[in-house]
Amino acid sequence: MLINVEDARRAARRRLPKIFFDYIDGGAFAEETLAANRADFGRWNLRQRVLVDTSRRTLATRFLGAERPLPFMLGPVGYLGLYAGHGEILAARAAAAAGIPLALSTFSIASLATLRARTAGELHFQLYVLNDPAVRDELIEAALAAGVTTLFLTVDTAVTSVRERDMRNGFRAVTHITPRLGASMLARPFWCLDMLRAGMPQCGAVAHRPEFGHGALEQAGHLARRIDTRLNWADVAWLRQRWPHRLVLKGILSVEDALAAREAGADAIVVSNHGGRQLDGAPSTIAMLPEIAEALAGTLDILVDSGFRRGADIVKALALGASGVMLGRAYVYGLAAAGEAGVARIIAHLAEEVDLTLALMGLTSVAELKALGPAALRPRG
Ligand SMILES: Cc1cc2nc3c(=O)[nH]c(=O)nc-3n(C[C@H](O)[C@H](O)[C@H](O)COP(=O)(O)O)c2cc1C
Repeated sequence: MLINVEDARRAARRRLPKIFFDYIDGGAFAEETLAANRADFGRWNLRQRVLVDTSRRTLATRFLGAERPLPFMLGPVGYLGLYAGHGEILAARAAAAAGIPLALSTFSIASLATLRARTAGELHFQLYVLNDPAVRDELIEAALAAGVTTLFLTVDTAVTSVRERDMRNGFRAVTHITPRLGASMLARPFWCLDMLRAGMPQCGAVAHRPEFGHGALEQAGHLARRIDTRLNWADVAWLRQRWPHRLVLKGILSVEDALAAREAGADAIVVSNHGGRQLDGAPSTIAMLPEIAEALAGTLDILVDSGFRRGADIVKALALGASGVMLGRAYVYGLAAAGEAGVARIIAHLAEEVDLTLALMGLTSVAELKALGPAALRPRG
């Protein structure tokens, strides 16, 4: 039974080949930032108030230009279609049913056009800028053609960090099914069947380009090698000119960069350390959020991700200045465990936890929580 995110994580571990589970679950180097993302929520307690009529409650709130039924959305995670057959479509359907967006990763099995054709709801796309201008422009054109409303430019991946679990599993830069990968896959027959039914996975964004090779692993290797390591603020300015809709910078973790993002014309930022997968030793996002929110003073939407597993985590971030929260591994565990129903279960579960947490704090809405701000919390001694 999936009662919480940790249940889904355990179920995902049972269902996925170890090599994929570790890829999702792991962080960079010593995994200190990965651990801090969870531990630092413990720096705050919630303010409990009683004898308030909380019989009428709502979780609706505004972020990224629209009123949303829930204060969170599904963030971009690569290769959803390798954790469950047609994973991107399943996750997007669960998100659309809950009225929240999913941001499709550049590293996806389903292309934007497929997602557009097979799901309803608002389309968001996460862009890695590639050093090949033709492919880079093609990705932007595809986003425009599919009617993407919001583009997330990920800025914390100038280089890809080392995830030691992947190294141990021999998964780093694997481009084809090695004997080890094959054995890891065959140990999970239900997953194998699911994949066989879904057909040969390809990276949808570049599957039509022969120079990227064949099959998702090889194509992903080519994509990863072409991520533009020279990306800088001038490119952000260029993209701002090029992209006529909402532009969000994902991977901001300092006041200086938050202010620079505003200066560069971003509509919003995602305070993120990539779920502890990039700079190990970087602070947790919940630790950085208050000073970033104070510096921006409501001039930009602030989303936050990294480590969100509980409704109370979401409540704390909203109190500390986030407009909304992006889920990463939380929904991916649900997807790997039980497909669309698993993602729906995680969304419903977190919504219920936020709702009950607010009610027990004597609050009836996210709007009340945001208005109260840090006063809704108490720093733990
Ligand atoms: C398996 C995996 C793949 C990811 N792929 C991408 C990606 O393609 N693009 C991106 O911007 N972020 C990617 N991320 C980072 C997430 O968008 C998000 O920042 C992170 O998962 C948040 O941390 P959490 O999983 O602890 O909630 C990935 C994360 C994971 C776990």
